[in-house]
Amino acid sequence: MAQADPQKMRWVKIWDAPTRLFHWTLVALIIGAYVTAENGWIDWHFRCGYSIIALLLFRLGWGLVGSDTARFVRFVKSPFAALGHLAHFTRREPDTEVGHNAAGGLMVLGMLALIGFQVGSGLFSTDGIFTDGPLASLVGSDMSERITGWHVFNFNLILAAVAMHILAILAYAAVKRHDLVRPMVTGVKRLPAAIAAPRIAPWWRALLVFAVAAGAAWGLSAA
Ligand code: HEM
Repeated sequence: MAQADPQKMRWVKIWDAPTRLFHWTLVALIIGAYVTAENGWIDWHFRCGYSIIALLLFRLGWGLVGSDTARFVRFVKSPFAALGHLAHFTRREPDTEVGHNAAGGLMVLGMLALIGFQVGSGLFSTDGIFTDGPLASLVGSDMSERITGWHVFNFNLILAAVAMHILAILAYAAVKRHDLVRPMVTGVKRLPAAIAAPRIAPWWRALLVFAVAAGAAWGLSAA
């Protein structure tokens, strides 16, 4: 079999459309959830919350059966691997990463966990007057008020994580000259030809996973 020329570069699809749609819709919905909460537009705040639940459930499913770069087994590495990656952060070298790097993978997991906690706690929250989350009655009013406190506080952690996320992306651009944003928009990245392209899962599978996720979120909203 002919060997690929290590100097040769080619465009490779590293992020499938479902993962990119997930990302940018999540960004819009988090902003939406914040704005609606700040303005007391509680019905729309709920709608943003249920939509985020649908997205998160989709992402969990896609992390199991999606394209290679979306799969948790592919990008979740140990903290040692993440530290190893960060140890040569200041070295300027070509971007050969197919998907999340070891440090980014842990960051992604952390953000998903924080956002999961945010929407999960929202289900049990109350404003103490007019509006309760759909599961608040399961825990009683004292506990519900305590969970509401966590719901409010956790948003600060999300803000801190998003700030770190954006700073990290800027740092990769400034220090290593790696453009991570363009692939998250277009799906493609220029990589050495010797690097194998990831397997991209078919769109119908994404639709199926999304239908199950949206159905579950809808079920919660009707609870
Ligand atoms: C509310 C704000 C944001 C949240 C919650 C968020 C969350 C996430 C998550 C969960 C992922 C992992 C994607 C996946 O594997 O499914 C990710 C990746 C990514 N995000 Fe964001 N994001 C936010 C804002 C932004 C912004 C403003 C940018 C661009 C400036 C951005 C650029 C990226 C890029 C480039 C990646 C891929 C990083 C890599 O190559 O490993 N994100 N983000």
